[in-house]
Amino acid sequence: MKILLKEVIFTLILFSFTNFVCRGQDYDGGNSPPAAPPPEADNCNGIFLSYIFMSREKEYPYVKNATAQAWAFKSTATIMNTGINELKEWKMFIGFQHQELLVSASNAVLVDGNELPAPVGTNGTYLSGYPQTDLKTSIETAGDLTQIQVQVQLTGTQFGITPPGIPMPKRQRQFVLPMMDSSVLHQRAMVSTKNKLLIASSIYVCCVRDPKVKVKNITTKYFPRQDGDLSLSYDVIQVYENNYLAQVTIENNNPLGRLDHWNLTWEWMRGEFIYTMRGAYTHQNDYSDCIYGVAGQYYQDLDFSQVMNCQKKPVIADLPRDRAKDEKIGNLPYCCRNGSLLPTIMNATKARSIFQVQVYKLPPDLNKTALYPPENWKIVGVVNPEYKCGTPLRVDATEFPDPSGLQATTSAIASWQVVCNITRPKMRENHCCVSFSAYYNESVIPCNTCACGCGDTKNCNPNVPPLLLPPETLLVPFENRTLKAVHWARIKHYNVPRPLPCGDHCGVSINWHVVSNYRNGWTAQITLFNWEEINFEDWFVAVQMKNAAPGFEKAYSFNGTLLEDLNDTVFLQGLPGLNYLIGETNGTNPAKDPKVPGKQQSVIMFTKKRTHGINVIKGDGFPTRLYFNGEECALPSHFPKAEANKDHINLVLVFLLVLVTFSPIAYPLH
Ligand SMILES: *[C@@H]1O[C@H](CO)[C@@H](O)[C@H](O)[C@H]1NC(C)=O
Ligand SMILES: *[C@@H]1O[C@H](CO)[C@@H](O)[C@H](O)[C@H]1NC(C)=O
Ligand SMILES: *[C@@H]1O[C@H](CO)[C@@H](O)[C@H](O)[C@H]1NC(C)=O
Ligand SMILES: *[C@@H]1O[C@H](CO)[C@@H](O)[C@H](O)[C@H]1NC(C)=O
Ligand SMILES: *[C@@H]1O[C@H](CO)[C@@H](O)[C@H](O)[C@H]1NC(C)=O
Ligand SMILES: *[C@@H]1O[C@H](CO)[C@@H](O)[C@H](O)[C@H]1NC(C)=O
Ligand SMILES: *[C@@H]1O[C@H](CO)[C@@H](O)[C@H](O)[C@H]1NC(C)=O
Ligand SMILES: *[C@@H]1O[C@H](CO)[C@@H](O)[C@H](O)[C@H]1NC(C)=O
Ligand SMILES: *[C@@H]1O[C@H](CO)[C@@H](O)[C@H](O)[C@H]1NC(C)=O
Ligand SMILES: *[C@@H]1O[C@H](CO)[C@@H](O)[C@H](O)[C@H]1NC(C)=O
Ligand SMILES: *[C@@H]1O[C@H](CO)[C@@H](O)[C@H](O)[C@H]1NC(C)=O
Ligand SMILES: *[C@@H]1O[C@H](CO)[C@@H](O)[C@H](O)[C@H]1NC(C)=O
Repeated sequence: MKILLKEVIFTLILFSFTNFVCRGQDYDGGNSPPAAPPPEADNCNGIFLSYIFMSREKEYPYVKNATAQAWAFKSTATIMNTGINELKEWKMFIGFQHQELLVSASNAVLVDGNELPAPVGTNGTYLSGYPQTDLKTSIETAGDLTQIQVQVQLTGTQFGITPPGIPMPKRQRQFVLPMMDSSVLHQRAMVSTKNKLLIASSIYVCCVRDPKVKVKNITTKYFPRQDGDLSLSYDVIQVYENNYLAQVTIENNNPLGRLDHWNLTWEWMRGEFIYTMRGAYTHQNDYSDCIYGVAGQYYQDLDFSQVMNCQKKPVIADLPRDRAKDEKIGNLPYCCRNGSLLPTIMNATKARSIFQVQVYKLPPDLNKTALYPPENWKIVGVVNPEYKCGTPLRVDATEFPDPSGLQATTSAIASWQVVCNITRPKMRENHCCVSFSAYYNESVIPCNTCACGCGDTKNCNPNVPPLLLPPETLLVPFENRTLKAVHWARIKHYNVPRPLPCGDHCGVSINWHVVSNYRNGWTAQITLFNWEEINFEDWFVAVQMKNAAPGFEKAYSFNGTLLEDLNDTVFLQGLPGLNYLIGETNGTNPAKDPKVPGKQQSVIMFTKKRTHGINVIKGDGFPTRLYFNGEECALPSHFPKAEANKDHINLVLVFLLVLVTFSPIAYPLH
């Protein structure tokens, strides 16, 4: 126990144009708050970091079990530039390890965009500076501590470790900077810590440039733009003393990325509010937060009824298409797409969206140059991939074509970029699912049990595989399949678990049916079912087949393309006029007939010329991943078996039988 505590501690990762090697030391320091830089900083010519544990108090509930006791803790992390190079966009990693829940962090935000309180105690967390993102050098500031150092006051809850033990962050002997932001670093930074075996309540780390790593010569003032699945830029294009106009551009850079009816939210960190918007609107027109807040006191003469939104976290949505030409709220290029952002392969123009926002500021930011972007960006859509966004990074000003049409460019006054990447849906959190079937097996392998969540599990079993189905049952809503499925199981002598498996709860399901398999090629049929009440306009499906996709020849009723840069993926979309997947409708006689899903279907032809040796039946003929509107769908865990294969003895018998029967015919030929 003691060793564990002593074996401190703590890793800080710096994000900069340079790489640093960090050496740490632990001290059995007192609990005095940090004031002036500690003497240890004197020996550090680079970046000096410290983590000082301040205090903790027992929290409710008081429990007997010491490991389950919660404690409120306070600590201070400091980062100071003691070197000769400016440190841009600092980031530090703290290896929390006692199930910490971080409740507040002054002067910093979580890099992953999570809001506080956030659980950080299993994997640690990255912090980055806010509002002070850069640390200047002593040389250029005449040693001004406020510009060369940031102190982050941390509070949170932590479990276990009774006093006098001190819960400190984890030591990691070697920490390799993840490849994130590699466009900036273009190399991996090695950071290591060395500790003395002392009980620690503070850790000091000195990071110096790693002489072995070549520093990339960066000529831009700010960060180069980063790649990612979705790029949002926040460009300030007009500034006044107390307000500014920002243009937000959303660009879809992933060939399978997509958003429908997007909602964008962010968090104002400095009391700003939205006066007006063009090309988008906020879901709530609510100015009460202003009237009762600081804004109301400061802007005494402002008519707040004209203010669009005063929420700290506004929810912004795209304008409908019919507002595109509206002089007052629309009339921007790339605006007003009713929240749709398509992949570039479908339409490059529709892969981008723009809106403008007029932002009012509060003291002390009443200065044309006091510009801060909002933080904690999040964007969601309906049955779309899930995006995880990073923090806004200051980038070189975006340049726009001159509005007068001359061959000039105007540039933004300040620009930030937020990059959002697609995260794969977790198990049972998909929004679409796939069923498999084939000509050689009469049963369909339906979507996984609980593929898109379980719903109420009182009367069903979430942990058993789904019942195999007769093909026509795929057209029936899950609630109405039970009788047929159970009947089918009886006929086929399948095991029927009790209670019956839960449904898939997916809004969209897709059937992949292998129709034929011959020497030179094979065919499959894909059917999309929409069980939701909404229509999907401009839908697309991307089918990844590791081995078989290069053999793609054509889709009969869809527009199919083999994606060249993702060459094991077939991209399918509706032909002009057939690009709607309509929602679920009532049966002809709603009292008697079950509801009817919206459907689209096509046969797809493959050749084996380019894919020698594939085994369609063993699994090569089934998707390895399948996406609907960019969202990855849950796939069944196995493939349909060749029916005779069900029973090996049977197969052998059949084989023998065939041989025996045919032999007498063969003999006379000799
Ligand atoms: C004490 O709490 C921990 C964490 O909640 C738990 O894992 C452990 O089983 C508990 N021990 C006892 C004896 O209840
Ligand atoms: C911690 O990291 C592991 C491995 O990367 C990951 O599987 C796990 O989900 C992470 N836990 C949290 C709480 O983020
Ligand atoms: C997003 O992914 C790209 C690579 O595809 C990576 O360079 C970038 O750092 C990632 N961004 C975030 C915020 O994870
Ligand atoms: C970096 O670029 C600057 C300006 O382009 C140049 O003067 C300098 O020599 C370069 N440094 C290195 C190490 O390449
Ligand atoms: C625009 O989106 C809304 C939902 O966000 C939907 O109800 C409406 O039908 C859509 N309008 C058009 C023209 O597609
Ligand atoms: C099929 O899709 C491709 C790629 O989006 C497009 O270039 C082509 O015009 C489409 N063909 C038809 C007939 O719609
Ligand atoms: C892309 O969308 C724009 C705007 O709706 C439209 O004018 C253009 O014809 C579309 N391009 C294609 C290739 O469909
Ligand atoms: C605005 O900020 C600039 C630079 O930060 C400073 O030089 C200037 O004095 C400020 N103006 C006012 C009115 O505070
Ligand atoms: C967007 O926000 C509105 C209002 O909060 C909500 O009704 C709608 O469902 C949200 N849309 C998505 C895709 O989350
Ligand atoms: C596409 O497939 C070919 C042959 O299978 C392979 O050599 C090539 O690297 C692939 N390209 C990409 C971008 O995956
Ligand atoms: C479908 O049927 C339900 C009742 O079964 C009815 O309330 C609803 O209006 C019907 N919808 C349509 C579009 O006919
Ligand atoms: C289908 O299932 C739903 C929900 O259980 C039920 O309300 C409806 O009556 C069923 N329809 C038929 C035709 O059985």
